[in-house]
Amino acid sequence: MIKEYKGKAFDCIKQEPVRYTGIRVFSREKARDVLRFHQSLPVYKKTSLLSLEQTASMYGVRSIFVKDESGRFGLKAFKGLGGSYCMYRILCRKLSLDPAKSDYRTFLREDLREKCCKIEFVTATDGNHGKGVSWAAKLFGCKARVFMPAGTVEARRRAVEDAGAAIAEITEWNYDRTVQYAASFAEERGSILIQDTAWDGYEQYPQWIMEGYLTLAEEAAGQMGGIAPTHVFLQAGVGSMAGAVEAYCLNRFNDSPPGIAIVEAEPAACIYRSVLAGDGKAHSIEGSPSTIMAGLNCGTPCSTIWPVLRDTSTWFCACRDSVSEKGMLAYARPEGSDPSIVSGESGAVTYGLVRTILEDESLRDLFHINRDSVILLINTEGDTDPEGYLRVVGHPEKGHLFPIH
Ligand SMILES: Cc1ncc(COP(=O)(O)O)c(C=O)c1O
Repeated sequence: MIKEYKGKAFDCIKQEPVRYTGIRVFSREKARDVLRFHQSLPVYKKTSLLSLEQTASMYGVRSIFVKDESGRFGLKAFKGLGGSYCMYRILCRKLSLDPAKSDYRTFLREDLREKCCKIEFVTATDGNHGKGVSWAAKLFGCKARVFMPAGTVEARRRAVEDAGAAIAEITEWNYDRTVQYAASFAEERGSILIQDTAWDGYEQYPQWIMEGYLTLAEEAAGQMGGIAPTHVFLQAGVGSMAGAVEAYCLNRFNDSPPGIAIVEAEPAACIYRSVLAGDGKAHSIEGSPSTIMAGLNCGTPCSTIWPVLRDTSTWFCACRDSVSEKGMLAYARPEGSDPSIVSGESGAVTYGLVRTILEDESLRDLFHINRDSVILLINTEGDTDPEGYLRVVGHPEKGHLFPIH
């Protein structure tokens, strides 16, 4: 039974989640293995878990926690977690190394460096995944080619190249078509496609990418010090990050699983629309959707994680750009002594949504919010498009350009 809500800021489907049995792979044990690899990287540092205490008390909920991924690996986004772990697993397989007995430091060996420098990785990205691949390729001493959809701002393309070893190009196609191009480009050159979404016949590498994201969930659960979230709001483009973190949360907080909200950009809300179609299948959104949430502007759900999202989430939310802007401003201009957080378009949408819900009694009911609610959010990116960020939040010296919605 699904219930649909349509509002000015967002649309929402609510359902009774069912238990999905295929999610054991995103276990705590797996997350610990992945974290062990990330900890071996030279720039590894746990990102902060921030508590918005004043905001929580103002809105009458127990806690609002924000896992702030804007500081991850100096890349301003969480995505490097997936690219680096997947590259590690691919290289281990190619060079006959046991991933359980190796880590990044193994790759400092001269003989391995000589092999790595001949290997090229290829991917398509709307920004953050490409930065992660570029950065990881440099770490491992490999080459990388990155393709970006039409409409990508030049700052994002440059950021991909500046992050590491990649040559980055903007294509004339939308995201899905750019992914297809990257796949054929890799095949023609005998390079390795390292894509953060799965489709029939291309499943193992995206699986490793999703496992890479578990580090942020494992860190966050540890930082919450035994408090279990009642609500987790997760941004979704193709749904890889959301699905991996969702599955981890359902395993980790098995006794009392949190309600999961999948949050998308409305013009590209392929998961929302797939649920609404009601036939159990993932559906694509055609054309070139336009949204300021570049990281969420993907038209096709990740095939392997789609069943997890479909079956175990409670809410599916399709948000308009105004929700993201509201979140960016609210993070930048916190209540009282709450910390100020730099959050970009795709990072802030969950907070904009939560603020919208907290302000409205009927929405609080729809989302089962009460005094005991412990809300967990992930700020998935900082100001990855600095000009876009300033347009919304304003320049620190000139003051804020827009009032908070
Ligand atoms: C900042 C940010 N948040 C969220 C996402 C969504 O991740 P996924 O595509 O795995 O759903 C992305 C994807 O690129 C992103 O860049």
